[in-house]
Amino acid sequence: MPDYKIAPSILSADFARLGEEVDNVLKSGADIVHFDVMDNHYVPNLTIGPLVCEALRKHGVSAEIDVHLMVKPVDRIIPDFAKAGASYITFHPEASEHIDRTLQLIKGEGCKSGLVFNPATPLDYLTYVMDKVDMVLLMSVNPGFGGQSFIPATLDKLREARKIIDASGRDIRLEIDGGVKVDNIREIAEAGADTFVAGSAIFSAASDSDANVYDTVVKAM
Ligand code: DX5
Ligand code: ZN
Repeated sequence: MPDYKIAPSILSADFARLGEEVDNVLKSGADIVHFDVMDNHYVPNLTIGPLVCEALRKHGVSAEIDVHLMVKPVDRIIPDFAKAGASYITFHPEASEHIDRTLQLIKGEGCKSGLVFNPATPLDYLTYVMDKVDMVLLMSVNPGFGGQSFIPATLDKLREARKIIDASGRDIRLEIDGGVKVDNIREIAEAGADTFVAGSAIFSAASDSDANVYDTVVKAM
């Protein structure tokens, strides 16, 4: 059985009480905090930056924080996220002028690195950089918003990514992001994912039931 990890996306949390929301999902058994950074340029939405990551660390969050950069350019914000306590920093290859350099920058800052693939982006970008990648993140929606529907073609892409990772012999997480729900998480796991981002499925509008929703997601696997 793979070492499955659940990474709630705080994009769907109540930002007015973010620390408490993150504490709740971690107490309920979540493994990683998925931190969506959007710049209203690379993607049509605007969210949170290094100050909020630092605030979560100061609040006492010790779990890994998985910073998903949906920004362009990417390089100049990386050192700030490293200082703010990011564990993983992932970026979209289309948003970097020099992918290998950006990966080196992330590693040089002491973080784990990853490439993020939009639904229509081929996995070819991995070919020459596998030795610098700790995570492959497949988007199963177009980036920018929570609450979208899972794009089914991502299942084949997951199987392809799983083969590439296994052939590399390296310890690389395969993360899926977008439209992950109780009713599809099992087939997503069977296609090869080991790390599951879920935003709207975990942070419900009625926030008091966060823990129950989380339990339901985990039990569906
Ligand atoms: C979308 C973000 C996702 C999003 C997932 O651009 O990268 O992390 O929050 O939300 P759900 O799980 O609601 O699709
Ligand atoms: Zn994300």
